[in-house]
Amino acid sequence: MSKRDLVSITDFSKEEILALLEKAKKFEENPNQRLLEGKVVATLFFEPSTRTRLSFETAVNRLGGRIIGFSDASSTSTSKGETLKDTIKMVSNYADLVIMRHHLEGAARYAAEVSDVPVVNAGDGANQHPSQTLLDLYSIYKTQGTLENLTITMVGDLKYGRTVHSLLMAMSHFKPTFNFIAPDELRMPEEYKTFCRENHIPFNEYTDFTEDVINQSDILYMTRVQRERFTDLMEYEKVKNVYTLHRAMLENSKDNLRVLHPLPRVNEIDTDVDDSPKAYYFEQALNGVYARQAIICTVLGL
Ligand code: CP
Repeated sequence: MSKRDLVSITDFSKEEILALLEKAKKFEENPNQRLLEGKVVATLFFEPSTRTRLSFETAVNRLGGRIIGFSDASSTSTSKGETLKDTIKMVSNYADLVIMRHHLEGAARYAAEVSDVPVVNAGDGANQHPSQTLLDLYSIYKTQGTLENLTITMVGDLKYGRTVHSLLMAMSHFKPTFNFIAPDELRMPEEYKTFCRENHIPFNEYTDFTEDVINQSDILYMTRVQRERFTDLMEYEKVKNVYTLHRAMLENSKDNLRVLHPLPRVNEIDTDVDDSPKAYYFEQALNGVYARQAIICTVLGL
């Protein structure tokens, strides 16, 4: 039987995504279920993480599984020159599932090809972050009561922000309208705009972060400027504080508007937004545990 990986959000059909969200709902109602008894899950984080690693590990613990892995590749034989292929071959001998974050785009697809056990992409460079997308979809569904016909405004680093790339592709199943707000240097890459055109998804592009656009939106998806992806830090300095959302900017927004952010944030959401009933980013991160429980069980066929 062929194994199931989650490398790109396009690995899952609309029906599979909806089934997974239904599973996440069940885990939210009853998070402690010993479905992973006797299973070992490897978390290999070649790049820093707080939420993704800890929520995956919480998910495994709540499911009764065991965890091996690392959060700092410099303490592994990668630092002696071991290749990604050999590392994955070894770990897939030890574990039933590999969850990997890597700085190179395409690393997760490569790992899935060489691994004998399922691989879940926990973020590969500026490419994709599909488990984040599933928790984003779950958060959107919970707050809006639907995924259909929503206006989603993405703000910030749309060039290097892998979460917006995966979310855009996933939302293509649900007739969205997108607003892309970014400085010229960090615009949504052409390949994703082509994807929108081919899928008849309307989108508008802006460089100014205005209340006019916020007030049309159902979801305001803020993102951090991804300093780690810049080769020239002078370029990062020019754009690092390009947009900041303040609570006053939400004054005339729709009642159902919710502010999402994959986190970590730096300066793009002022702390005065945190107490707004429209701020949803901390709950969004909690939803990650339930979505990731659903992902783990789905790829393991449980
Ligand atoms: N959202 C997200 O990927 O956060 P971490 O980098 O902390 O895992």
